[in-house]
Amino acid sequence: MLPFSAACERNKQPILAVLRHWLPLAARVLEIGSGSGQHAVYFCQQLAGLHWQPSDRSAYLPGLGERIAREGGPDPGPANPDWRPLAAGAVLAEPLELDVDCLDHWPQPPFDAVFSANTLHIMPAASVPQLLAGAARSLRAGGVLLLYGPFNDGGVASSSNNVAFDAQLRSLDPAMGIRDAQQIRAEARRLGFEPLADVAMPAHNRTLVFAAADGGSR
Ligand SMILES: C[S@@+](CC[C@H](N)C(=O)[O-])C[C@H]1O[C@@H](n2cnc3c(N)ncnc32)[C@H](O)[C@@H]1O
Repeated sequence: MLPFSAACERNKQPILAVLRHWLPLAARVLEIGSGSGQHAVYFCQQLAGLHWQPSDRSAYLPGLGERIAREGGPDPGPANPDWRPLAAGAVLAEPLELDVDCLDHWPQPPFDAVFSANTLHIMPAASVPQLLAGAARSLRAGGVLLLYGPFNDGGVASSSNNVAFDAQLRSLDPAMGIRDAQQIRAEARRLGFEPLADVAMPAHNRTLVFAAADGGSR
């Protein structure tokens, strides 16, 4: 059975609206922590000319690869009546192994965008600057970084739901926990990113949008 995330089904449309606003036409996008692959497939079904490179840590690759092969390829006919075609000219690439902490996993730049959903509160806090630094290396000048998920601000949670979610994460693994948007912005600025937007999303989530340096400062 394919891995499945109910959250992805709920958030894919609001995230698509953000992508439509911020991605250039026919964007080449690197996704970090693709998980079940539902976002990758859906965005490629919706955005013509998109080139999407999914990735994740090795343990996630078999399930992710299976979804991309089944839903990103040609029509399998009656074997999968739920199959939908990709948008015109869209390309959904075979998933890459990418752990943000492994320098040699990062693919050759340049990408027009780096996207990651619901990963920063799962990876240890020390990995977040690695994701930002990898994104800075991977993006072309002026390319965009989009980070979707729950965030705190200056140590303050944006809802009681997020306080409970943070406690639940930390009880499962003390290395997990909701990250702070102010700290992320500070680290991103240090890497030459310009914060462009902080988009409020359903269920107390946000999308932080940054532009990569115009060159020289990375
Ligand atoms: C809650 S899942 C989110 C998956 C998917 N993006 C979504 O929105 O459903 C968290 C993801 O973060 C990924 N992740 C955690 N630590 C990571 C790391 N060090 N490098 C890359 N991905 C990581 C996990 O492998 C997993 O795919």
